[in-house]
Amino acid sequence: MTNNILLIKTYITFNTNNIMRKKIVAANWKMNLTLEEGKKLVDGIIAGGAALSETKQVVIAPPYVHLTQTGTQLQGKAFMNLGAQNCYSEASGAYTGEISATMLASAGVQYVIIGHSERREYFKEDDMMLAKKTDQGLKNGLKVIFCCGEPLEIRDANTQNEYVGTQIKAGLFHLSVEELKNIVIAYEPIWAIGTGRTASSQQAQEMHAHIRCVIAAQYGAAAAADMSILYGGSCKPSNADELFACPDVDGGLIGGAALKADEFLGIIAAMVKA
Ligand code: PGA
Repeated sequence: MTNNILLIKTYITFNTNNIMRKKIVAANWKMNLTLEEGKKLVDGIIAGGAALSETKQVVIAPPYVHLTQTGTQLQGKAFMNLGAQNCYSEASGAYTGEISATMLASAGVQYVIIGHSERREYFKEDDMMLAKKTDQGLKNGLKVIFCCGEPLEIRDANTQNEYVGTQIKAGLFHLSVEELKNIVIAYEPIWAIGTGRTASSQQAQEMHAHIRCVIAAQYGAAAAADMSILYGGSCKPSNADELFACPDVDGGLIGGAALKADEFLGIIAAMVKA
């Protein structure tokens, strides 16, 4: 297995120059902003007029109650996609307070974030539930931003590669190579989320390359080379250039800095020029 991974690593690195995989900057508003504040923020982002394209896209994932409003604002804005922060693991039924992927799709949502560390930790979402949520998203035509990332004690013990590899296997390896095309992976080290402590570009690159190898070992080098892998955790305009310059970092999943139009536009600009 280790030898395979090494071989694949060489192959992927060798081929990255020809790859036109998507770069994406995705905003995760979490539980922030009133409808009025959200509207202003999206207006500000649209006014920024970022030079987006098929391979350089933006996703905005507001709280559920914003989806219709934000979706209306994004209508006709090419390469600006509407995302949701979660969906439920079942298709429909007596699950008071939950939202299904079918409902999201019917509201014009294109992306759904699954497995954010806050969902895993505070809401006790385990691997099996996340695999089911991923299935629900895909079944309804959504693209899934699947999150992974290690807590500080795992990083300190230097076992982050095994930890993140296990999260990916448990959440995604039941999918077919066709289904995998609608998956984006977001690597978010928990110790960097909302803490102001960003992973160094070297730490991010090493983990992203590892994730690509984990995907390659299961699905082949082409599928791995096509996979967009985003970095998340205190990404801001001042560090986005360096992070996005890494060959295996294909953009970012942005929390705090996505709540201010000028900061988010600065991060989008870094992605556009990377
Ligand atoms: P942060 O959050 O940018 O505020 O660190 C990122 C995330 O949790 O998606």
